[in-house]
Amino acid sequence: ASHKLLLLAGDGIGPEVMTEVKKLIDLFNKKGLAQFSFDEGLVGGACYDAHKVSITDETMAKADAADAVIFGAVGGPKWDAVPYEVRPEAGLLRLRKDLGLYANLRPAVTYPALAEASSLKRELVEGLDIMIVRELTGGVYFGEPKTITDLGNGQKRAVDTQVYDTYEIERIARVAFELARKRRNKLTSMEKRNVMKTGVLWNEVVTQVHNREFKDVTLEHQLADSGGMQLVKNPKQFDVIVTDNLFGDLLSDIAAMLTGSLGMLASASLGEVNPKTRKRKALYEPVHGSAPDIAGKGLANPIAMIASFGMALRYSFDMGKEADMVDNAISAALARGLRTADIAAKGEATIGTTEMGDAIAEEIE
Ligand code: NAI
Ligand code: MG
Repeated sequence: ASHKLLLLAGDGIGPEVMTEVKKLIDLFNKKGLAQFSFDEGLVGGACYDAHKVSITDETMAKADAADAVIFGAVGGPKWDAVPYEVRPEAGLLRLRKDLGLYANLRPAVTYPALAEASSLKRELVEGLDIMIVRELTGGVYFGEPKTITDLGNGQKRAVDTQVYDTYEIERIARVAFELARKRRNKLTSMEKRNVMKTGVLWNEVVTQVHNREFKDVTLEHQLADSGGMQLVKNPKQFDVIVTDNLFGDLLSDIAAMLTGSLGMLASASLGEVNPKTRKRKALYEPVHGSAPDIAGKGLANPIAMIASFGMALRYSFDMGKEADMVDNAISAALARGLRTADIAAKGEATIGTTEMGDAIAEEIE
């Protein structure tokens, strides 16, 4: 059967790195490894310029019907002054919200050829392969009340509210346990039950889901602050980490820096199973933004985007073998010494976006 993709390239380097994904889609189709069909749409500033909104209802309907959305990046100084509701990021936020993408998967993987270049001790990061699962649609970023009140005596009071319901913790825990099962069978849950009620419930619900459904997976609980310390001190002790929206935001950025450049980091955001397609709603995107400083110059590193497409193969299409092929092709291109500017050591020769994309495609061939 054919897999239906929606490609939303966005702004800045988004279209440049998306071009390299299209190469791989063509290659997979040509080799008969899969049958992909794709549609494209505007998002972010590009959509604002054409339609005065950052994503159209028509594109939202296509995203809803697609088996997976592949997203580039949005934003840039050109749209700094557009109204808040239609700013480029609003398009991405609407996709996440309307598709109900509650599980954000951020792998932190060290490519062997780059372990040496890491700013951290080589033995710490060599062979690192961990997955952070961050709850994305609840917690303190969305909880009500969320206010700033003038207290009238020259003082103001700001309130953010951390809220989690059982079902929200259950569903993110299930995603994390299922991932652990396909990896090294270990899950670490992080919260702060010592000072937060949401931490108490989080701990309780994750433990219940473990007891009921995932007894075969090793579960550990860590307090999020000392967990963060462990992540830097001895990251290889972890396999999958599951945590809430706020802690996940911080911990995933910390984990990212163990592995190197923004240009290398992939992500997936997953939601409920779509009754129409019987697939999990999913959006795959690089962690980086639109990189206006290098946009249009052919210098962007396409690896984060290509690795995100690899995640789509693994998590939306059950094509683990083909996903491994993509990851191995990236490793092989790096092992050949090929470097875009962002990952090159001082004085090392560099190549551009197209050359890196071509080299990865060649390795797959
Ligand atoms: P950024 O990620 O776009 O760039 C940060 C730095 O990393 C820049 O020096 C850039 O050149 C470099 N970089 C990023 N991706 C790279 C790649 N693939 N290859 C080589 N170098 C790369 O973040 P910044 O500068 O904070 O934001 C720029 C714009 O992107 C803003 O409008 C921001 O709102 C937007 N943004 C969008 C995101 C998204 O679409 N999900 C995420 C983050 C930022
Ligand atoms: Mg962040």
